Amino acid sequence: MKRFAFATVSTLAVMAGSAVVAEPQAEVLHWWTSGGEAKSVAVLQEEFATNGGTWTDMPVAGGAGDAAMTALRARVLAGNPPTAVQLKGPAIQEWYEEGVLADISAVAEAEGWADVLPASIAGHMQCEGTWCAAPVNVHRVDWIWANADILAANGIEMPSTWEEFNAAAEKLQAAGVIPLAHGGQAWQDATVFEAVVLGVGGPEFYQKALVDLDPEALTSDTMVQVFDQMRTMRGYVDENFSGRDWNLATAMVMNGEAAFQIMGDWAKGEFLAAGKKPGEDFLCASTPGDGYLYNVDSFAMFNVEGDDNRAGQDLLAKLIVGPSFQKVFNLNKGSIPARTDVALDEFDICATLSAEDMGSTSDAGSLLPSYAHGMALRGAQAGAITDVVTAHFNSDMSSADAVQQLADAVANSY
Ligand code: BGC
Repeated sequence: MKRFAFATVSTLAVMAGSAVVAEPQAEVLHWWTSGGEAKSVAVLQEEFATNGGTWTDMPVAGGAGDAAMTALRARVLAGNPPTAVQLKGPAIQEWYEEGVLADISAVAEAEGWADVLPASIAGHMQCEGTWCAAPVNVHRVDWIWANADILAANGIEMPSTWEEFNAAAEKLQAAGVIPLAHGGQAWQDATVFEAVVLGVGGPEFYQKALVDLDPEALTSDTMVQVFDQMRTMRGYVDENFSGRDWNLATAMVMNGEAAFQIMGDWAKGEFLAAGKKPGEDFLCASTPGDGYLYNVDSFAMFNVEGDDNRAGQDLLAKLIVGPSFQKVFNLNKGSIPARTDVALDEFDICATLSAEDMGSTSDAGSLLPSYAHGMALRGAQAGAITDVVTAHFNSDMSSADAVQQLADAVANSY
């Protein structure tokens, strides 16, 4: 209905002979609804409005975007896709293959994206040589966050091995502190799991298990150890964890109800939005082990009719990759800019660490895509893994059974 209305208005204007100047419009589907996220997306809304755009907001709450992706499928199936959609990783390619994405190459070329984006990020944004998405940031997933006062009061340093993490957690538990703030949602279980796979197995193992889906790696003794560590960590979570949203888990660390959270650096956006200072109120460190799990947020434009909508898509794409947005947005969001030419002097110690580690892991070959945040695998394979991870975490399934189920689920997912 909406598209028909747009077409009619512009047709009438052309028929009347008036000069038609497109007025940029965009209906934007995203899942940025927590405190830090909302503050971040407001930056884009403001820039869009300042540049003459009219933004129709379509927020779909739910961490990691599972609910947003369900809403997207319904809209596309109904033949009425939103103009712009928060979409990332292989899902971009999957939608491209459906023939529903708009080509934004003209903007990308005019703005010289190829010169300012790392090749690894640009690769995710291109579909058969055309530009099909605009990158917003780089989120690191393998982080551990801590309440600084709790650690100091209990004589605990940020752990640099999983043994140290477990020892710290036991000590905290004995002192009556919840060691690990966690929300029992499948994607949060997967987020912890991939950090443990990287830490316990190392970057090569991560690549084999969660990117190449090598059956030997999936059923290896190392994967058994990973599930053992997940079982140990289940014991560090409070009993009310089921269904809890990730930002409520972050609030537990903020408020001193829990010591640690393992979560991507959108958690830092929550700490910052609440006025907390890194290095003083809260601490950040990469989870134990080498490597870096990246998660690049991006927007894809869907095929829609109407000059106003297309002008909206072009304007959005241009602003998203523009240097001013990349700086201000990422200062709020907890991530770092996708562009390599944005100075980081106003960014905090966690962001600086992220940028340094991204550079060094890229050189070392241990800069790896997050499976839990849709960067490594197609939806069916990622979903098959997450189902087993969450079933294990929420039951008394043995590690041996979990690895077998993991390998079977992956094999049956194609
Ligand atoms: C997204 C982040 C978002 C987080 C929690 C991740 O998958 O990349 O931008 O803040 O999910 O919803």
